Order: sequence, then C-alpha cells, then structure tokens
Amino acid sequence: MTELKDASLGLDVVPLAGYIGAEIRGVDLREAHEPSVVEEIQNALHAHKVIFFRDQEIGHAEQIAFARQFGKVTAAHPHEESPPEGFPEILPIDSRRYESNLGRKRTSYDSSWHTDVTALINPPAASILRADILPPFGGDTAWTNLVAAYENLPKELRDFADTIDIKHQFSTRAAAGSQRDRKVREANLVTYHPAVRVHPVTGERALFVSPGFTRGAREIRGFTPSQSEGILKVLWEEATRTEYTVRFKWAPGSVAFWDNQATSHLAISDAGHLGYDRVLYRVTLEGDVPKGVDGRSSESVSGDPFYGS
Ligand code: SIN
Repeated sequence: MTELKDASLGLDVVPLAGYIGAEIRGVDLREAHEPSVVEEIQNALHAHKVIFFRDQEIGHAEQIAFARQFGKVTAAHPHEESPPEGFPEILPIDSRRYESNLGRKRTSYDSSWHTDVTALINPPAASILRADILPPFGGDTAWTNLVAAYENLPKELRDFADTIDIKHQFSTRAAAGSQRDRKVREANLVTYHPAVRVHPVTGERALFVSPGFTRGAREIRGFTPSQSEGILKVLWEEATRTEYTVRFKWAPGSVAFWDNQATSHLAISDAGHLGYDRVLYRVTLEGDVPKGVDGRSSESVSGDPFYGS
C-alpha cells in the first residue's frame, strides 16, 4: 500500500480503494482540534466519503465531543430506548441486545445495504462508528460511493433517475408485538426522497436509493408496483457495484466516519452464526432535507424531523 502525504490537506491520508475510503493517520480523536484541522478532516471526508482512524483510545464522551466538532449531534436513533446511561447520543450496535430486540442473534441491526435512517425527512449528514468488541475474524463493514454510482450511469439513466422520487420507510425487523416493534410502528417514519440528491456541501449528485429503507415499500411515485420493482432493482444494483466499495476490517479502537449523504454501507453478517459478539457505538450528525437536481425537496409522509444539539 502506498502512503500518500496529501499536501493540499496536510493530513496523512492513505486511500484504501479506487473510488472510496481512506485511512487518516496521526490524528488523536481525544483532542479538541483547531478549526483548520477540523476543516481538513471534513475535506478528507467529502473527498473520500468514508475515513478511518485506528487505535483510538476513546470512550463515549470523547466520541461525542469529536462528533460535535463537525455539527449537531442527534439522539442515538428515533427508535432507541436504552442508550448507555448518561449518553443519549450513543447507539450501541451490540449483538448481545439483538436476540431480545429482533428475536434472533445477529451482529448488526441491519445486514442490507442502507444509508442511515433515510426514512427520516432529514437523514443524518454523517455517522461516526467506533469498534469495541469484535469477533476474531469476520464482522467487517463495507461502504459504497453513491456519487461514483451516479456518475457512471449511462446519461439516459442519469436523466431518468434525476426525475423520480422513492418511498423510504422504516420496516420493523423486531419480533411482532415486542416493545421495539410497537415503538417502530408508533413512530412510523415514511418519506419520499429524490432518487438523486445533490450534496449540500460538494454539489455532487448521489444515487440516493438506500435499499434497506426502500425495499419494504418498493414504490417509485407514479409507477406501478411491478414497474417500481424493476427500476429499483437496476438502481440498487448500480449503487452497490463492488468496484464502488471499500471493505474495512475493524479492530478495537477503530473509528469509521462516513458521509451519509454520499454513501451506503453494509454490515457483513458472517460472524453471528459462529456465536461471536460484536459491539460498536455510533453517533450521528444532524442532516438537512435532501434536494433533487431541480431543487425539489424530499416530502414527509409521516414522522418528525430528527434534530440534534
Ligand atoms: C450501521 O449500520 O450503522 C452499523 C454498521 C455495522 O454494524 O457495521
């Protein structure tokens, strides 16, 4: 692997794949960074879509403090009921909880490609995930670059995708009748988002199709269910082509910081069946309401915006 000193950023940035992902070295996330360093990290985030830090000795408080340097931090999740005591911003991704919450053992809450919480009218701008307990092998996460996915479509398909809106909804994966199942149904988050969203900072166009949140409804506004299904299958496949992805092997103290406006990710579920535990902690930054290429905004069907502080 070639280590590149990115002169324009002044950070040690090691790209990990052709379209997405870079490891940033020599930054201690416990520190309060100068605004210029925060800006450099943010630039690296927008350039590489997901950035990784290794060997960070941070806990919940430091993770939240690091996140606050980049925006408003939301509560853990619209459906989270038991964040760690004193840390309402922390979402535990904890295999030990899923058996009771979801009715089956698994290593992450979702094992499909998704962009975080796109059932919201304002999905998070970014997520920061820190690894704590990991299986001895397996349990990696992959990210895909949705800007590359959009830009490499044939022009006719790009022009078509620019015009359509897709229904995103939160499908309960919890055991029927469980407390979590009730909570998901009560909150009932449903939103139509443009299939192509314009990034609020970079102006790039991203193929915003979040399979995990659009697979339930399978609905493109104005199209029949079978038409919607056919079109969505093409777009999901394009958004998750292997060449646009990077796969990250976690170790305790690894941190991934992704631009949730330009990526989807997948928790690779290859460790749960072996009985290993996997515990990570996530925080999310408040996002804005997506806009399509013609300036139209996403439209909420139900559910409230999710603000941070
Ligand atoms: C997430 O979807 O935010 C968590 C990903 C993972 O468990 O690897």
